[in-house]
Amino acid sequence: MKLLVTGGAGFIGTNFIRYWLRHHSDDTIINLDLLTYAGNLSNLTDIAETRPAKRYKFVQGDILKTTLVEDVLKIERPDVIVNFAAESHNSRAILHPRRFFETNVMGTQVLLDAARKYGVERFHHISTCEVYGELPLDSPDAFSENAPYRPQTPYNASKAAADHLVNAYFHSFGMPITISNCANNYGPYQHPEKLIPLFTTNALQNLPLTLYRSSHNRREWLHVEDHCRAVAAVIKHGKIGETYNVGSGVEKSIEEISDFILDALDKPQELKTYVPDRPGHDCRYLLDSRKIAREIGWQPKIPFEVGMRETIQWYIENQKWWQTIQQQADSETVQEDKWETFTRR
Ligand SMILES: NC(=O)c1ccc[n+]([C@@H]2O[C@H](COP(=O)([O-])OP(=O)(O)OC[C@H]3O[C@@H](n4cnc5c(N)ncnc54)[C@H](O)[C@@H]3O)[C@@H](O)[C@H]2O)c1
Repeated sequence: MKLLVTGGAGFIGTNFIRYWLRHHSDDTIINLDLLTYAGNLSNLTDIAETRPAKRYKFVQGDILKTTLVEDVLKIERPDVIVNFAAESHNSRAILHPRRFFETNVMGTQVLLDAARKYGVERFHHISTCEVYGELPLDSPDAFSENAPYRPQTPYNASKAAADHLVNAYFHSFGMPITISNCANNYGPYQHPEKLIPLFTTNALQNLPLTLYRSSHNRREWLHVEDHCRAVAAVIKHGKIGETYNVGSGVEKSIEEISDFILDALDKPQELKTYVPDRPGHDCRYLLDSRKIAREIGWQPKIPFEVGMRETIQWYIENQKWWQTIQQQADSETVQEDKWETFTRR
């Protein structure tokens, strides 16, 4: 099988390419990635160096560019497209919303049109739990695939719009699509601007851990390897036109995450610093993931404590990886302790 993976140089895309090639060594992957600040080609150096060129290929390019995307499809003729490419950081979306709609919505539309033109057999779109909006902390509910979309931040709204678009191409054009909406991921190769790597790398440097004041807000956490296994399962066994939630049921607050990291690294509680919430900081997300278990047989395998310890260890052993990224920090790198000065108008 030949897969076109977009955003394959980012956190989940990298892990997915590694996962897929480990389990399907005869398959071919084309990795199409713009290499924004979030893309890191060094994540896949070993694969690029050891695989025959015809089994793994990297193309640097923007999913917004129709000609480029069509050329890739015309030449490579992939069976499957897995669309990870996105602007993915909620904090950046507060500061620069437009880019999120361009990449996440219009980029997806360019890919869908090209996939349709070249008869791609499956378009699998990667989405998020955050499209459903937030749950109150004390709610007994969880979001099923039928829950209404109620996105509350520009990032979530752009992902929700893309999901609607992908579904519309199924209903209007009979496109063979599937969508997976996943909980918060953690694991190796995650950019150090995201919560768990940020707290881990800050703690390793004895820098403050900036907790939003609503530090009891919770997220559902899934190890990235479990996510990759779910995506692979949906590609193989998912029903065309269907959406699958992918969650672990394991909820942890920001407070609990910071305590876990400080404890694992034997660092003092005093590193915790409380800062104003980012605008639109959602309270809680929790998915009802029974459909993927029932219909496809997928279940998470990696216990949270085990996955977290391995992840922290990965950041300890790969300091050069994240230090290089930190040295490349651009003018748009978010200062999470500066939301007080952010004006909503
Ligand atoms: N990280 C999570 O916890 C999580 C949870 C659920 C869903 N998701 C979704 O999974 C996908 C991957 O997330 P991630 O955390 O790996 O993101 P990431 O930011 O680490 O990686 C995104 C990748 O997309 C590439 N990219 C951005 N714009 C592009 C463009 N215009 N053309 C081509 N490539 C482009 C970047 O260079 C980068 O390599 C996203 O769609 C995200 O919404 C993420």
